[in-house]
Amino acid sequence: MSKLGDYWAFQCGNPRGIVGKIMIGAMNIANKVMYHGIIENIKPSEEMKILDVGFGNGYLEKLIYRIAKCSIYGIDISEDMVKIASKNNKKGISNGDIHLAIGDCCNLVFENDSFDIVTTMNTIYFWNDTIQGLKEIYRVLKEDGVFYNAVLTKESLDKVFYTKNGFKKFEKNEYVEMGQQAGFRNISFKNLGKNYGLLVIYEK
Ligand SMILES: C[S@@+](CC[C@H](N)C(=O)[O-])C[C@H]1O[C@@H](n2cnc3c(N)ncnc32)[C@H](O)[C@@H]1O
Repeated sequence: MSKLGDYWAFQCGNPRGIVGKIMIGAMNIANKVMYHGIIENIKPSEEMKILDVGFGNGYLEKLIYRIAKCSIYGIDISEDMVKIASKNNKKGISNGDIHLAIGDCCNLVFENDSFDIVTTMNTIYFWNDTIQGLKEIYRVLKEDGVFYNAVLTKESLDKVFYTKNGFKKFEKNEYVEMGQQAGFRNISFKNLGKNYGLLVIYEK
């Protein structure tokens, strides 16, 4: 594994500084089909309360808020991303609708049954304890809440040089098994692009 590959993988999992900023900006362009896939499925409306796990530069928050002035909470482990995402979502924050903070999805600070929807995009590969993260998301979802997990397929991840280390890559059956272990009762998939990404939909 090259040093560059390791560095790139680290930046994906915990972006920081100017490199992290540029990398996440590039992802906003490359992964348009994934952001739009989440939005088409959640169909944002003003009464929704949403949690986004690992928001990066807050691009998804911006897109959702443009459609509906709903209540959006976000957590990310990167202090630099909290700063950038807060700048990018000034209006929603000053309106008291968007709340972004440092946090780890394996240890959420929210009460049980808090959210209608939880989203995450390209983060599950980096969680320290995947089952614990899924259990935490299950816990904070309201009854009948839904978790939308947008991921690159294992095949897509294998095509890029920097995913050899630092990325946990899962097959479809593993997403189902882990979701069931966390308590989700129904788990389904939608394709995001052609042979590119997957939206894993977990119903509580
Ligand atoms: C590849 S970036 C994706 C950012 C954003 N979701 C997007 O697609 O535009 C991964 C993000 O997940 C965050 N992250 C990684 N592990 C996390 C964890 N355990 N809890 C919360 N955020 C995490 C990183 O800091 C980073 O901002």
